[in-house]
Amino acid sequence: MGAIRVDGDSPTLAIIKTELQLAANGFLDKNLPLAFDHQEEAARLIISKQTPSGWDPSAKGSLGREGYRLLKNDAGVVWVAADTDIGLLYGTFKFLQLMQTGAGIPESGYHSEPKIQHRILNHWDNLNRTLERGYAGASIWNWHRLPDHIDQQYHDYARANASIGINGSVVTNVNANALVLTPEYLEKAAALADVFRPYGITLYLTARFSAPMELGRLPTADPLDPGVQQWWKDKADEIYRYIPDFGGFLVKADSEGQPGPHNYQRSQADGANLLADALKPHGGIVMWRAFVYSEDTPDDRAKQAYQEFQPYDGSFRDNVIVQVKNGAIDFQPREPFHPLFGAMPQTPLMMEFQITQEYLGQATHHVFLPSLYTEVLQSDTYVNGPGSTVSKVIDGSLHGYSLTAMAGVSNIGTDRNWTGHHFHQANWFGYGRLAWDPEISPETIADEWLRLTFTNAPEFIEPVKKMMLQSHEMAVNYMTPLGLHHIMAWSHHYGPGPWVTDRHRDDWTSTYYHKASENGVGFDRTASGSNALEQYAPELQAQWGDPKRVPEKYLLWFHHVPWEYTLQNGRTLWDEMALRYQKGVDEARQNVATWESLESYVDEERHAHVFSFLEIQAKEAAWWRDACLLYFQQFAQSPLPEGVEKPE
Ligand code: GCU
Repeated sequence: MGAIRVDGDSPTLAIIKTELQLAANGFLDKNLPLAFDHQEEAARLIISKQTPSGWDPSAKGSLGREGYRLLKNDAGVVWVAADTDIGLLYGTFKFLQLMQTGAGIPESGYHSEPKIQHRILNHWDNLNRTLERGYAGASIWNWHRLPDHIDQQYHDYARANASIGINGSVVTNVNANALVLTPEYLEKAAALADVFRPYGITLYLTARFSAPMELGRLPTADPLDPGVQQWWKDKADEIYRYIPDFGGFLVKADSEGQPGPHNYQRSQADGANLLADALKPHGGIVMWRAFVYSEDTPDDRAKQAYQEFQPYDGSFRDNVIVQVKNGAIDFQPREPFHPLFGAMPQTPLMMEFQITQEYLGQATHHVFLPSLYTEVLQSDTYVNGPGSTVSKVIDGSLHGYSLTAMAGVSNIGTDRNWTGHHFHQANWFGYGRLAWDPEISPETIADEWLRLTFTNAPEFIEPVKKMMLQSHEMAVNYMTPLGLHHIMAWSHHYGPGPWVTDRHRDDWTSTYYHKASENGVGFDRTASGSNALEQYAPELQAQWGDPKRVPEKYLLWFHHVPWEYTLQNGRTLWDEMALRYQKGVDEARQNVATWESLESYVDEERHAHVFSFLEIQAKEAAWWRDACLLYFQQFAQSPLPEGVEKPE
């Protein structure tokens, strides 16, 4: 890396030096202590907010709070430029990435600024270290040992996140425990915030709506009660004494048993504004989730969030952002985008993706999620005419939102490789890259990740990239082809369960969603059914409301059609469904063979680990196929088409 100059002194600049040293050790395969105080004339790499002599100051331009620029002069000297230390850290990571992938710095330089302000991980982690829907070991937050013991893993975590641009972390479960708001836990949370700070990461907590009753012994948590309002104000003041740059609250209310404003016949806006007012003097924000449930089984669960939030557009305080899951049901293998996107022009909306794979084979099935994320982000809402993509809602450009954010439900745990499946690191990585720039393609993300994680050898990159890019479609095929959804096993959500019926609520069963009978299959969400379609723009209503025009990947999401219905390729619905299940299985098996053939490119341990998980996936893809086809065949009453294996 040659002679290096890092200007200035701060905890973040110290991290930059450590990163450069670590990278040098890795690149050179030996430990060669670097010095960072070379005179400008001698330096080959300059990391500085000041313009070094001999450089045109206007070349740097304005870079905002987190942007950076990489410049190279004729003599090959590289300048990592930014207006802030965090910008320099992001720029340094990019510089190292370009070195490691062999891309180098383009002649014209490289400039990047995040398109989204708050790029956040949501940890569904409980204070006792169990996780809600976590599949990679226990929670990395060891509350028992905090605040006195700061585990190295916290630094590693912050470092990994900063390297992909994540700048916020909600460290507690949305099914919140009010305990985290007590002084004892705030002291622990403050210790984590201290670790995160120099990496540019802000700490947030989940707030239990009934905390004034549980902690404050108030008789109510009614958002319009002055005593409750005062309690939250005092609580916010207290939190900021522990964590001066506290980010704010994430709230799940009126959903799956969580308390909320409904308990007092108040609106979601009343609830969110209560907390927003308490945080406002300190600059904090409220991320108020739209994942609401009514008490009674609805005619269509897909309609609820829209019904409850859309009428309140414009009623939320300016430090509230409504956090909306990518689809209207619940992180299914595939869902059309959530109808709230585009429907609340006066209320900032943020995206919630799930990185942990609750419904997608959990830790053992390889599914490259940036494909799913991009499909949603690039969907056209049509609300301001063609081109009104979800990504433009989220980045604020469509409606001029003052706040922008994206959340990803973390897949991280204490597993040695962080995420259970080695390839699920790519989903953490890809989420961070898309939160920084929702327009980056899955191809680019897969390419970068493979090079950074394994090797630059094209003989490895090309087949594995192909495997990654096909993996989402493959999983949809062996789990829920043609718009099927919510047909997984009861409660734990691993494996098939289209037969699940008769549970606490109809909308927690599978039969509620697929509605299979001898007459056909699918959920009619057109005007003849639940009419959930009316929550979308007229262009989409026209397209998706017509079984001949709806993309077939959404057919059974919006329509109930007979088994002998003819698809665009001339096959009957039943035959196509069976062939898609088979295709998913064939590809999962092919992945095992592909990976096996690449043994020489990967160290033995990681190769064996991934191999065994791919074998599990292939076996379970066949399980999904057999279970679903045997179940649906009792209604379709047709033989399996040629090419589909008979269940054993
Ligand atoms: C799903 C998931 C729950 C989770 C909930 C949420 O329903 O199964 O475990 O709490 O989503 O997003 O709040």
